[in-house]
Amino acid sequence: MSRSFCILGDGNGTVMTSLDKKFMNLSSENTPGQEVRQSNDQFITLMRGKKIIGHPVDFSHGDVDAFLPAPGAREAWEQGYEQGGQQAYTEYRGDALIRNGLAARLEQFTGAAIAADRELIITPGTQGALFLALGSVVEQGTKVAIMEPDYFANRKLVNFFGGEIFPIPLVYEDNAIEKGPNLELLEKAFKAGVQVLVFSTPNNPTGLVYSKTAIESIANLAASKDVTVIVDQLYSRLLYSEEVYSHLRACKTPPKDLITIMGPSKTESLSGFRLGTAFGTPKLIDRMEKLQAIVSLRAAGYNQAALGTWFQEPNGWMENRITQHEAIRDDLLSVFRCAGLETSTPQAGSYLFPKLPALVLSTDTFVWMLRYQAGVTVTPGVEFGPHSDDSIRLNFSQDHTTAVAAANRIVEMVQRYTACK
Ligand SMILES: Cc1ncc(COP(=O)(O)O)c(C=O)c1O
Repeated sequence: MSRSFCILGDGNGTVMTSLDKKFMNLSSENTPGQEVRQSNDQFITLMRGKKIIGHPVDFSHGDVDAFLPAPGAREAWEQGYEQGGQQAYTEYRGDALIRNGLAARLEQFTGAAIAADRELIITPGTQGALFLALGSVVEQGTKVAIMEPDYFANRKLVNFFGGEIFPIPLVYEDNAIEKGPNLELLEKAFKAGVQVLVFSTPNNPTGLVYSKTAIESIANLAASKDVTVIVDQLYSRLLYSEEVYSHLRACKTPPKDLITIMGPSKTESLSGFRLGTAFGTPKLIDRMEKLQAIVSLRAAGYNQAALGTWFQEPNGWMENRITQHEAIRDDLLSVFRCAGLETSTPQAGSYLFPKLPALVLSTDTFVWMLRYQAGVTVTPGVEFGPHSDDSIRLNFSQDHTTAVAAANRIVEMVQRYTACK
C-alpha cells in the first residue's frame, strides 16, 4: 500500500497517513519546557475560585538558576573555544583527549573497564544518547521491553523506530512488599522474543533505584537470552543517604550487548551544554557514531570541553548538592503526605510522583489549570506510562522555599478540584 494512501483514520473521518500517525505519537505539548505552547483558554470557564498568587515554579525541569552549573564548566568551555578549529571539529564520537579522561572516570564510577577509543561516545545530551542507542538496535518489528512508568522518551523512540513495545510493570509504591520491575513478566517477555530492554535507574519519574538483586537478575536474564540492554543511569550520582547503587555493567555476567548512558545535565546542572555519554559494546558504539554522523555530526565541539569538569568537582561539592536536594525532597514529601497525597520516597534523583485523588477535571486539564491558576508547572503522569494518569511529576531541583510554597499551592488546587465522594 502506498504510504500516502494508508488510511488509519482518527474516528472522525479524517484520513491520516502512517507518517502523520508516527508524528502524532511524538506529541510534545506536555513535555518539559513545551507547555508554554499550549493555548487551552477554554478551560478558564472551569476555574474554581480565584487565582492563587505565588512565585511561579516550573517543576517540569530543574532550575539551573537555583542549582548553578558545576564549578569550572564555564571556564572549561571558554578554553574549548580558545582551542578553535581543533575543538570545533572533533571526531564524530567526540574529542579523543576528552574521551580518554572521561573513560577513566566513568570506569572508576561504574566499576568496569571502558576503552576510550572503542567503547565511548559523546552525544548531544543524554537524550541524544538514547536516540542513537535505540536507533542502533530497534527497527521495524523489533520487540522491546519497557518499564511502566519510565522516562517518556523511551516509548516514543521505540514507536518512532517501529519497534513493538512489551510493557513491564514497575512497582515503586512505598507500601509495596517488593519494589522493582516485575521480573517474572520480564522473563516471560524475553522468552516471547524480546530483543531489547531499555530502562532508567534511578527511575524517572519515581526515583526508584533498582536493587542489586533486580540488576543481577536483569543481567543474567539478558545474558542468557541474548537481549540487548540500554540502561539510562542519568541520575546515578544523586543518591540519597543510605542508598546503594548497582551498576549493570559491573555484574559478573553482564549482557553481551549493553549500552550505559549518563550525562551531566541534572545533578551537575550542565543541561544547557547539551552533553551526554554512552559507553559499552563497541559494535553498538560504532553504529551510534554512524547515526550521529547523519543527525548532528558530533556533540557541540566547544561544549564538549565542559566535560573536563565532570566527576572532578571540588571536594564536598557533590555531597552538598545531595544534602540540599534531600532536604527539599523531605519537605515536599511532608507537604504532600500531610494532605493525603500518596507519594513514594525517591531514593535518588530529583523527581516526585504524587498520586492525585479523583478530580472533577481530567489530569491534563488539572495540570493546565495548575499552571494558569496557581503558577505551578508539572508534567502529567500519563507521559510516563498509560497507567499513571492519576499522578503528576515534579522535578524538585528548585529553590527550596519557593518549591515548598508551590507544593502548598498544588495541595490547595487538589482540594479545590477533588470530586465529591
Ligand atoms: C531518565 C532521563 N534520561 C534522559 C534525559 C535527557 O537528559 P539530557 O538533558 O541529558 O538530554 C532525561 C531528562 O529529563 C531523563 O530524565
